[in-house]
Amino acid sequence: MNPPAIAIDGPAASGKSTVAKLIAKELGYTFINTGAMYRAVTWYALQQGVNPADTAAVCGLLGDIPISFGKDGSVSCIMYCGRMLGDELRTAEVNANVSAVAAIPEVRALLVEKQREYNTREAVVMEGRDIGTVVFPETPFKYFVTASEEVRAARRAAEGITESITERDRKDSQRSVSPLVKAEDALLVDTSDMGIDEVVAFIVADINKKLS
Ligand code: DC
Repeated sequence: MNPPAIAIDGPAASGKSTVAKLIAKELGYTFINTGAMYRAVTWYALQQGVNPADTAAVCGLLGDIPISFGKDGSVSCIMYCGRMLGDELRTAEVNANVSAVAAIPEVRALLVEKQREYNTREAVVMEGRDIGTVVFPETPFKYFVTASEEVRAARRAAEGITESITERDRKDSQRSVSPLVKAEDALLVDTSDMGIDEVVAFIVADINKKLS
């Protein structure tokens, strides 16, 4: 049996990254940001001059993609040619193209395999869109973290990022493979009127209850 896997899913700017990171810290588990993995493939395609909407061309890159998915302490990290990728994964160009790349079944198959690999060795808190539905459908620890559209847009604006999260969520929810959807057995956590500490305490209490 694998160590525990905590699945945190939800739309863009729902606060799930911040919450997932803090839960991982509190439990001493490894934090895995799967959005960064889809962003890395998108970034690489753009680097190579490949149109992210050209599925065949993106798939052609996957065989020997020089990107590795590892760990920096207890947090997932992405390496390219000996350096860690960071800010380049969050540009407006990557934001605008990541949903197209994430809709490609071959990309998802490759990344889901890497995501599951993390959990063969250690307990993880993994955040994304399909963690509870596809990556770890058997885990009893599933949380769907969301917030109203207004609150999410305000959070993004406060980060200095202007992007249409509504449009990205629409694409992520409507794709045919592994769409963004709440797993039936996930606990819905609406963070619109909750502070971060409150959300973390609520989820950790639920995890501890299920672990005991
Ligand atoms: O969490 P994020 O905003 O960094 O994710 C970027 C994109 O990656 C998101 O718009 C959809 C895709 N994604 C996905 O399809 N499945 C995941 N498990 C995580 C992210």
